[in-house]
Amino acid sequence: MSSPLLADLADIVGAEHVLTDPDVTQSFGTDWTRAWSSTPLAVIRPASTAEVAAVLRLCHANGTPVVTQGGNTGLVGGGVPHGDRTSVVVSMTRLNSVAAVDRATQTVEVGAGVTLSQLQAHASSAGFRYAVDLAARDSATVGGMVATNAGGLRVVGLGDTRAQVMGVEAVLADGTIIRRLEPLAKDNGGYNLSQLMTGSEGTLGVITAARLRLVRQPAEPEVVTLIGLPDVESAVDLVASARQRGDLTAAEMIRAEGMAVVRAVCGLTQPLANEHPVYLLLETATLPDLPNDVDAAVDPRMWEYRDRQAEAVATLGIPFKLDVCLPITAIPEFLKEMDQLPDTQGREVHVYAHLGDGNLHINLVDIDEPTSERLDEQVLTLVAQFGGSIAAEHGVGVHKTKWLHLSRSSAEIATMKAIKNTLDPTGILNPGVLLP
Ligand code: MLT
Ligand code: ZN
Repeated sequence: MSSPLLADLADIVGAEHVLTDPDVTQSFGTDWTRAWSSTPLAVIRPASTAEVAAVLRLCHANGTPVVTQGGNTGLVGGGVPHGDRTSVVVSMTRLNSVAAVDRATQTVEVGAGVTLSQLQAHASSAGFRYAVDLAARDSATVGGMVATNAGGLRVVGLGDTRAQVMGVEAVLADGTIIRRLEPLAKDNGGYNLSQLMTGSEGTLGVITAARLRLVRQPAEPEVVTLIGLPDVESAVDLVASARQRGDLTAAEMIRAEGMAVVRAVCGLTQPLANEHPVYLLLETATLPDLPNDVDAAVDPRMWEYRDRQAEAVATLGIPFKLDVCLPITAIPEFLKEMDQLPDTQGREVHVYAHLGDGNLHINLVDIDEPTSERLDEQVLTLVAQFGGSIAAEHGVGVHKTKWLHLSRSSAEIATMKAIKNTLDPTGILNPGVLLP
């Protein structure tokens, strides 16, 4: 090991779990989007909460910045270092323990490094389901999903990650361990620190484990319906009527440009009889009520057209991406106005959406600068004018710290900073992320 710090880290986790070769560490330093990339000082791979605590104690004493990383599927630069050879990446994938499902409380305790697919398979083998699902399921980890309060495909029916978190174990900046993993439905002993850690994006502590709620497996698989529509207004109306029936678990939107690119890149056939400006995917317990003569297909394979949007768009270049939330009824007008902004006019804007949540993913690919602040400012100011949130499910990361004031008051931001300064007084945890 070439420095006393790295030698001490190797004493904690084992030399083979301190990675320093830039050819190896570069992928840990590069965001999924490829828009943010730096070389880590080292990648540390602890295997237990005690090792994470020892790593943090050491980094705290040395003033070394720590970036916590799970599956590295983040899209806002929140899970990678910024600045070459300044931060250690603490990779959590070896904390992958999975306890038996607690049937009496319908919960399970899992390590931060367990992937969403592993958690889903584990829950399902016990006859339950983990409610959150998203396309990056094979790589995204529980720790990362809790740290970002991940949303995904079923929030409209089953809630986001926050709704599933019963408790969290985390290590604070100085190595202190806080643990609340008991399966207690009622536990009002003061501030809910587990929920404080949820959505804190690695800035308040390192999440090492979580106790998560499970839901009952549906008796029959849900009905998946892809519907071709003339406009976004029709899609919003159909979501409203599907919600009224009370059995909606997902409502996703793809536009024509997204359908074209996913078909071309992934080699998929045209899913409906005709092409349409807008496609709505509904997942419901029973067949949805649809207008007469609508062009639709009922088939679980229709998910692929939505699931693979991000992957397909990323093949066109490093995209400029924004993830925002709007009141769902404002979305048609918002999209019309967004297309008229100085920097979007005349350009192909790929929008796919968790429409049921009002959550739009906005992607521009014919762009030189994937982190264009001009575009950020134009689109996010419009989002704020429509009463929306500038950060829906991907987090603030480094991408949106500058724009946090559009969604949070100065009093709220000052309160967040006070919490951050108390828990991480030397600012070693994920510097530059979340707070301006
Ligand atoms: C999705 O919904 O497909 C993901 O959030 C990824 C993305 O927005 O690109
Ligand atoms: Zn999404």
